Amino acid sequence: MPGIVIVGLQWGDEGKGKISYLLCRDADCVVRFQGGANAGHTVVVEGRRLKFNILPAGSAAGARPCIASGTVVDLDEVFEELEMLKSMGLEARLMISRSASVVLPIHKKLDSRIEEARGGSAVGTTRRGIGPTYSDKALRTGLRIEDLLNPDDLRERLEILKRFHGEEPGDFENLRRMGERIAPYVGDVELYVNDVLDEGGKVVFEGAQGTLLDIDHGTYPYVTSSNTIAGAACTGCGIGPTRISEVIGVAKAYTTRVGAGVFPTEVGGELGERLREVGQEYGTTTGRPRRVGWLDIPLLRYAIRISNVDWIALTKLDVLSGLDKIKICVEYEYDGKILKIAPPAVRLLSRVKPIYEEVKGWEKISEDEWRSIAERGWEALPDEAKAYVELLEDLLGKPIKLISIGADAGMEVER
Ligand code: IMP
Repeated sequence: MPGIVIVGLQWGDEGKGKISYLLCRDADCVVRFQGGANAGHTVVVEGRRLKFNILPAGSAAGARPCIASGTVVDLDEVFEELEMLKSMGLEARLMISRSASVVLPIHKKLDSRIEEARGGSAVGTTRRGIGPTYSDKALRTGLRIEDLLNPDDLRERLEILKRFHGEEPGDFENLRRMGERIAPYVGDVELYVNDVLDEGGKVVFEGAQGTLLDIDHGTYPYVTSSNTIAGAACTGCGIGPTRISEVIGVAKAYTTRVGAGVFPTEVGGELGERLREVGQEYGTTTGRPRRVGWLDIPLLRYAIRISNVDWIALTKLDVLSGLDKIKICVEYEYDGKILKIAPPAVRLLSRVKPIYEEVKGWEKISEDEWRSIAERGWEALPDEAKAYVELLEDLLGKPIKLISIGADAGMEVER
């Protein structure tokens, strides 16, 4: 009964898409349980770059894609990504929960309006309408997938939304047509996933964003509007906590963040520019340049604890190649005290001073050489790269079982 949860251990963009793809090669289904089209999961399969915003990236490996009730769904995105699955002969297998929330045009407008109202304190959202859709859900004024399936229900829900927002939330006719189009894919995801687990199948729960963007446990208010930690797989999909047999944390070999908010190990200047260019650190969803910095161990310790991570997949190790020295923030200093684990309180976090350890880097490695290393395995990695990974394991107290190089499936080292 393996229920495997994949979570990001930083501020998103850790490379969860490829890890999910790898873990889904023998999975029965793969579930998106929170967030919406604010996510950007990429995997390169046989030279083809596949970008997923709302469907789980693991579906490219043939696992049945499910979109569970905890998500906020942009149907235009779903239809677009279904085309991509169709070209792979996989589209008919999607199952979307009746209870998932629908992102409407008004939500996207509101997302922009609220950001503008925040002025200098703007969160830097993806403007995909995520926050306002979750707000309507919490207010019980939201529209669910099941409402699209019946014109009377749809009209009634839109009327309430219109009275509340004071403007048209979305076009009735357009939404009705979308309802017709999505109907063949609508199902009881929650029951189906429980059945698969009962029958001894393998389910991968593909988390989106990262722990530090969690609305309760992240760096509030500069967070997304859903829970992004492992526990959210239970609430977002309707499975009991004991269904989860393994939690896999995905961490990048350095740190990045899109949007505003605290970032203790941020690196600017030439080095920052280099990491951004080599790592191609530009948002998959919005194209925005990502902020970059050194690996932050106290933050990773915090993220590991919050989701009780079993093992780590370390991504983009290749980006650090060619640096003489690599810095790792091993602890913080705050008010004369040493902190080994990041404090959950964000105001405190914004006042910590990172304490770094410096390790030796390794030579620049070409793509072909990385390919050959991936084929030969762990022993083929440069000694300094192996030392870096082993040091992280020591500092984090968790095994790093998978090392990923770039977005291509096949470019990874398993241990
Ligand atoms: P929202 O989720 O669009 O409301 O954006 C809230 C914050 O989360 C912003 O800082 C976004 O940049 C960030 N964010 C949302 N989704 C992702 C993601 O998939 N990767 C990285 N950052 C994200």
